[in-house]
Amino acid sequence: MTLNPAGPRRHAANAGTSVPGVVEPVTTAKAVTFETLREHPRVKIYVRKADEALAEIGYTEHGERHVGLVAHIAYNILKRLGHPERDAQLAAIAGYLHDIGNAVNRDHHAQTGAVMAMQLLHEMGLPDAEVVRVIGAIGNHHENDGDPVSAVAAAVILADKSDVHRTRVRNPDMIKFDIHDRVNYAVEKSFLNVDEAAKQITLELTIDTAISQVMEYFEIFMTRMLASRKAAKFLGTSFGLTVNGNRLT
Ligand SMILES: [Fe+2]
Ligand SMILES: [Fe+2]
Repeated sequence: MTLNPAGPRRHAANAGTSVPGVVEPVTTAKAVTFETLREHPRVKIYVRKADEALAEIGYTEHGERHVGLVAHIAYNILKRLGHPERDAQLAAIAGYLHDIGNAVNRDHHAQTGAVMAMQLLHEMGLPDAEVVRVIGAIGNHHENDGDPVSAVAAAVILADKSDVHRTRVRNPDMIKFDIHDRVNYAVEKSFLNVDEAAKQITLELTIDTAISQVMEYFEIFMTRMLASRKAAKFLGTSFGLTVNGNRLT
């Protein structure tokens, strides 16, 4: 009885195409992309549980909407500035995972999330050289204790700090009492404009000043703006802000 009628299995990459004397590239496992990452069951759990934990302590939305947006914006920043496609993909992967550490604790969530991502990405088959780039970006995304240590990290910082929006407020009844909710609720539109020719990145906000004064925005987001400026500088661009069409920086 023959258990393997086809005979010994040939290497898939070279099957039927090998040429004597020519070394052909070995097919490696398919690269992990943003799309495969987003559909991973453990990623879904981490992202949802991190957001649930923040809901419990009164923070704005940090779930699939926020991290999906950060992933897309981080990807687009690097693409528009002419960085390699894979770097942009790594920025998207880091963007999607950047807040999972909140499932552990809000404090030091950037660093905790980086360690969680390390194990996850290693198991998914991401090469070590890419894993360290992703976790370096995750571990540095928070404005209080992070720095743009690479282009991937800079893109994630800019993308994360640009997500100020009405839809992040969980309970509009709270806007009277909570300045973060009020400022987010006042922002009707936010768009991160990357002008590759002028080497300028501009956060364009439309704020309903009947809900929150522009000063309140600066009161709570000054450190975020400084982090964005630093990240833009790392990418060889300058950072600007417009509120209701007026350039403020
Ligand atoms: Fe964060
Ligand atoms: Fe975030």
